[in-house]
Amino acid sequence: MPLLVKNGLVVNADSQRRADVFVEDETITRIEAAIDPAELPEGTEVIDATDRLVFPGFIDPHVHIHLPFMGTNAIDDHDSATRAALVGGTTTIIEMICPGPDDEPRTAFETWKGLAEDGANCDYSFHLSVVRFDALADRQIRELVAEHGVASFKIFLAYKGALDIADSNLIPLLELARELGVIVTAHCENAEAIDAMQRRLLAEGRTGPEWHEPSRPRSVEASGVNHLCTFAELTGAHVYIVHTSCEAALDQAIAARKRGVDVRVESVIPHLVLDDTCAERPGFEGAKYVMSPPLRDAREHEPLWRGIADRSISTIGTDHAPFNFGDQKTMGRDAFTAIPNGIPSIQERVDLVHTHGVDAGRIDLQTMVDACSTQAAKIFGLHPRKGVIAVGSDADLVIYDPSFEGTFDVADSLSKTDYSGYQGMRRKGRSETVILRGRTVVRAGRFVGEAGGGRYLPRTPSH
Ligand code: URP
Ligand code: ZN
Ligand code: ZN
Repeated sequence: MPLLVKNGLVVNADSQRRADVFVEDETITRIEAAIDPAELPEGTEVIDATDRLVFPGFIDPHVHIHLPFMGTNAIDDHDSATRAALVGGTTTIIEMICPGPDDEPRTAFETWKGLAEDGANCDYSFHLSVVRFDALADRQIRELVAEHGVASFKIFLAYKGALDIADSNLIPLLELARELGVIVTAHCENAEAIDAMQRRLLAEGRTGPEWHEPSRPRSVEASGVNHLCTFAELTGAHVYIVHTSCEAALDQAIAARKRGVDVRVESVIPHLVLDDTCAERPGFEGAKYVMSPPLRDAREHEPLWRGIADRSISTIGTDHAPFNFGDQKTMGRDAFTAIPNGIPSIQERVDLVHTHGVDAGRIDLQTMVDACSTQAAKIFGLHPRKGVIAVGSDADLVIYDPSFEGTFDVADSLSKTDYSGYQGMRRKGRSETVILRGRTVVRAGRFVGEAGGGRYLPRTPSH
């Protein structure tokens, strides 16, 4: 059914104006100051967006749903995580395919894609993580890029012996990425330094979740960023630092950019609104807040928000990595090193950015759209199909009520996790209506879409 979104303030990364948006089938076909509903085809649905913001569908460039990790598996499935995404205003996710060292890239791709095809309610694409790079991986990765539209890789410098890539493998992988025009996203923390620090702390009897941050301090992350950027400089590969948690790490990326390295920086919402005191909460509750890189001192928030405002940080993702408190986080009761790392945030991201960024006066609405949608689309080859309200783009629209007031509550969360890291925190704003390729999937903040309505987004390497 054709759809007219009338009287809203249409916000793109580079402009905002009062306009009506007309959608036919899956596509935006008109954007005009005023479109008269009387002249539209019979049956056109009209949504009144008076006093509402109209955003392009938000894109989360860093999501884990199927994640076999640290002796368990993340608790969401594609149905629960993508319902949560849509209710939170996110219409496209890019999930990390995270195989182990013995898994073949093609099998991993088929596994992750099969799960998403069965359950995803929003549109999706994948970053392919590479742990081991040999002749077989080289052949299969080339096929995945050429035939299946995989246009970004992921590497971990952290998680020794589990997900980390050896330097001897990193060089040829970056060379291949450069040859294919694929961008490489990277978790930058020095695995050996963390391993040594973890052993030392545990030997000293420092076993609680509050020791997670000291085991991987800011210097370890900054060193990881410098390491990755050095290798990018040597190979000419284009790289993207995921979940940058502190100014020291950001500075390394900015310094590399000044040397000519094509490096983009991502921040994720937990690092922008939570801090290391969360991991000190009594009764082992701190385990809920164990993620990597760790939550930092609250003094790191401002440099990160400034980086978003001045665009030295391109994107805000979530790093949604949902593990239950009751039976998963507690695996690390005797040693923080066994607490599955991750905080669920896929539903809360946009409202937290609106609350702590826009409403707090740290960023404006256009920067919010840029960081939460447009840049991800541009960097990862989805633009202008996604990430912008423009004629010819997919009709992914978020009609946002900026005056909504509330608090975050696990009872409202559609993720399967048994806790919310943002429980009781103030919330200003809500995705009231969400439209995915012309279909209304959220009304009055509730999921009303058809199950399995998401679509795979193959991409063309563009770097
Ligand atoms: O703590 C985190 N970030 N868990 C998910 C895996 C990763 O490092 O992204
Ligand atoms: Zn990571
Ligand atoms: Zn991650």
